[in-house]
Amino acid sequence: MKRSAFAAVSTIALISASAVVAEPQAEVLHWWTSGGEAKSVAVLQQEFADNGGTWTDMPVAGGGGDAAMTALRARVLSGNAPTAVQLKGPAIQEWYEEGVLADISSVAEAEGWADVLPASIAGHMKCDGSWCAAPVNVHRVDWIWANADVLESNGIAMPTTWDEFNAAAEKLAAAGVIPLAHGGQAWQDATVFEAVALGILGAEGFHKAFVELDEATLTSDAMVAVFDQMRTMRGFVDANFSGRDWNLATAMVMNGEAAFQIMGDWAKGEFMAAGKVPGEDFLCASTPGDGFLYNVDSFAMFEVDGEDKKAGQELLAELIVGPSFQEVFNLNKGSIPARTDVSLDAFDSCALLSAADMQASSENGSLLPSYAHGMALRGAQSGAITDVVTAHFNSDMSSADAVAQLAQAVANSY
Ligand code: GAL
Repeated sequence: MKRSAFAAVSTIALISASAVVAEPQAEVLHWWTSGGEAKSVAVLQQEFADNGGTWTDMPVAGGGGDAAMTALRARVLSGNAPTAVQLKGPAIQEWYEEGVLADISSVAEAEGWADVLPASIAGHMKCDGSWCAAPVNVHRVDWIWANADVLESNGIAMPTTWDEFNAAAEKLAAAGVIPLAHGGQAWQDATVFEAVALGILGAEGFHKAFVELDEATLTSDAMVAVFDQMRTMRGFVDANFSGRDWNLATAMVMNGEAAFQIMGDWAKGEFMAAGKVPGEDFLCASTPGDGFLYNVDSFAMFEVDGEDKKAGQELLAELIVGPSFQEVFNLNKGSIPARTDVSLDAFDSCALLSAADMQASSENGSLLPSYAHGMALRGAQSGAITDVVTAHFNSDMSSADAVAQLAQAVANSY
């Protein structure tokens, strides 16, 4: 009797001791599967393991995350949400409204996030005043990447206006080089489109069009000119562009098959993972025009049962915003840290340009959320715009028709 009573007590003691020291577990849904992306997410996996965590990887291939978001919806609907999810922009608040996100304010407060994150970034991470996501980085979207040798051997400088870009592209095409490496996937069409739109509409026009959804701007002559430029660019891509993954387009610039790519600075992560050197092998410049389109990656934690999973969420959130992770991850990813107190000494010239331009644009009002990467609008609205952009790019639709469809699609999306 005595013996079994003792055994029962010690079992309870053991159970409660193990509850106190729950081992952090996390199933992490993300779409970082390209060379540079995989190298970057490996940094987080390693830090998580070094701190006693067990990581279950749930990668969903597909640049831009469309496939990952479809997988997420299926998981949540079946009542089996992943522990942590790569999620960003207004989609964070949309999931919060569904009542499925965990509150990570205790970590944010203990770690003093409010003191080290710019207000513009912190705003995206909050739901009704509490912290509901942890920011990883700041990607810039409005970049143009080039093969340095190809430009030099064709006597071409990085273009600073869209007319210069078009002239350079004509010259390259005549020399037998593919001017623009592009992957024909809707999100990539949208990425090029928003860079062109920023250049042609200007920062104020971009804000009116893609943040305010102002009908007059969506149907303006300037927007017609944006679609005209998209039609011109369609002539600069190769015949096999449809469906191509973005990192394969980056590889075309790396190997000299193509001269330029317009893509966010995750493309730099690919160049770096392949051992290419900025300023020598490849060049970076902001796309023609003023302003800065930001795309902040972040992770949201979903409401899950189990002390081990909750411990995993807390550990992940803490590590993600931690200074060492923010440095090492972003060196691989091509982005810059979300934290303002991380030294940029180890970063390359493209990253330094990004940081300087971000600072300047936040001072002059031209720091803008990327619509193409889900930072500016809710899914229904950004999806409606992208449908028109990609339909135009992949057909002979006139710019006037595209503009009319754009306004209609936005109006129908509410
Ligand atoms: C973006 C994301 C980046 C990069 C890119 C391509 O939406 O913010 O981190 O992964 O997609 O997959």
